[in-house]
Amino acid sequence: MSCRVVVLISGNGSNLQALLDDAAKQHRDNGNYEIVAVFSNRPKAYGLERAASAKVEAHCIDHTGFSERLDFDMALQQEIDQFKPDLIVLAGFMRILTPEFVRHYTGRLINIHPSLLPKYPGLNTHQRAIDAGDTETGATVHFVTEELDGGPAIVQASVGIVDGDSAESLTQRIHLEEHRIYPLAVRLFASGQLKLQGNKALFNEEPLPATGVTIKQ
Ligand code: GRF
Repeated sequence: MSCRVVVLISGNGSNLQALLDDAAKQHRDNGNYEIVAVFSNRPKAYGLERAASAKVEAHCIDHTGFSERLDFDMALQQEIDQFKPDLIVLAGFMRILTPEFVRHYTGRLINIHPSLLPKYPGLNTHQRAIDAGDTETGATVHFVTEELDGGPAIVQASVGIVDGDSAESLTQRIHLEEHRIYPLAVRLFASGQLKLQGNKALFNEEPLPATGVTIKQ
């Protein structure tokens, strides 16, 4: 049976597109997954159109209609759960989630972050890497825990920083890597080989290194 995936977005949804394209392909016998619904907290998110074009249910729950963060999260949770998901994928979902929401989905909630975590949690990651004089940066897929951008890594892809790079040029190169590693991570989860145990990511019951599986450019 294929893994039921719900994707949460706030904007463009290029990672969502990579997942939609990947889910449409047949893989081996295991690792197959189906995107059963997409939710956005912003009505104008282009990703909603991508979902509709792929004939996937697309819904918006506008966070501006809620005065309390927890009320929004609980409304979202209730809607998500109607789809009986095995995995919730955050793909550019620009909201800080409440501990209640995170706990409800522990072990089946993953995120992609545009840095080599634990470096640069939070925003403006590429500019921070450039300003620090780093020679490489990248992206990390990780399990979500209550610590912001702090859960254990599943897979990382690194990208070299070269003279003349800007936050924009890095964004473009890193997006290409994100579109490779996010489908890979979802397939690993869907195959049942990947689990969260405590604060560790396990692959075939063995703890992954702190950097997850690293993929060089
Ligand atoms: C990506 O860079 C991802 O790492 C971050 O948000 C961005 C989403 O881009 N969490 P897109 O909406 O998937 O194009």
